[in-house]
Amino acid sequence: MAQVTFRIWRGDKDKGEFKDYTTEVSEGVVVLDCIHQIQATQAPDLACRWNCKAGKCGSCSAEINGRPRLMCMTRMDDTRYITPGETVIVEPMHTFPLMKDLVTDVSWNYKVNKMIPPFKPRKPDAEDGTWRMTQEEVDRVQEFRKCIECFLCQDVCHVLRDHDKKEGEMFGGPRFMIRVASLDMHPLDTVDRIGLLKNTLNIGLCNITKCCTEVCPEHIHITDNGIIPMKERVVDRYYDPLLWIWGKIFGTPKDESSKQRQSLPLVASK
Ligand code: SF4
Ligand code: SF4
Ligand code: FES
Repeated sequence: MAQVTFRIWRGDKDKGEFKDYTTEVSEGVVVLDCIHQIQATQAPDLACRWNCKAGKCGSCSAEINGRPRLMCMTRMDDTRYITPGETVIVEPMHTFPLMKDLVTDVSWNYKVNKMIPPFKPRKPDAEDGTWRMTQEEVDRVQEFRKCIECFLCQDVCHVLRDHDKKEGEMFGGPRFMIRVASLDMHPLDTVDRIGLLKNTLNIGLCNITKCCTEVCPEHIHITDNGIIPMKERVVDRYYDPLLWIWGKIFGTPKDESSKQRQSLPLVASK
């Protein structure tokens, strides 16, 4: 067993400060274990959110030594994130409003989610009410369905972090780019969400830095497999001159997402 000092953010939206706690760390434990031990022995009022302790509920997101991480999936002996012998700094996610200590208000994300029209399948392909899809088509969207809504990708995205410092449009963030991709690339879906992506979720603000992909605990290739193909669909729709002429003559698909739009604050932190 080793003694380790944790520097944990304590406070609410009005004021706060880092406080140090030293605790015993035994072999194989994760940061969330240490937070629970500190709660049990030194700081019973320390707030942190968690549910599964298995990397599946997406609740325990925080910043550990400045890196967006799930606390339950960060082992104390993982030297990529924890330097042996040094103080471990644990803070709440910076992109969302602070509620208390390590708990942030991520409800803005659920409002963005509500703006995305749900799955609407085409008519069944066979008389028995079933559809036909290739395995390749199924595999393509399966990756996106692994998302646990931890919002670490939203936390690290510099557009979401900085946009309260600029005048500008709302940005939906990487989690919702892949949510749209999971629906739009579904072989049975019939809804057109390209207008929503361009005009409301503002996919154009993403400059493909790939920071979101780097922090995703489910290893979803957010940028390569989700955002870039969706950007290409937007470009095809709005900027391909031949398709533009075609649209002028024969009309463009109706943007069904517009009726789902609602007034949302531009930024996650407001
Ligand atoms: S790649 Fe795009 S969505 Fe991902 S962090 Fe960078 S700007 Fe944000
Ligand atoms: S895409 Fe990855 S990082 Fe983003 S919310 Fe889903 S699981 Fe978390
Ligand atoms: S407690 Fe569920 S992901 Fe960490």
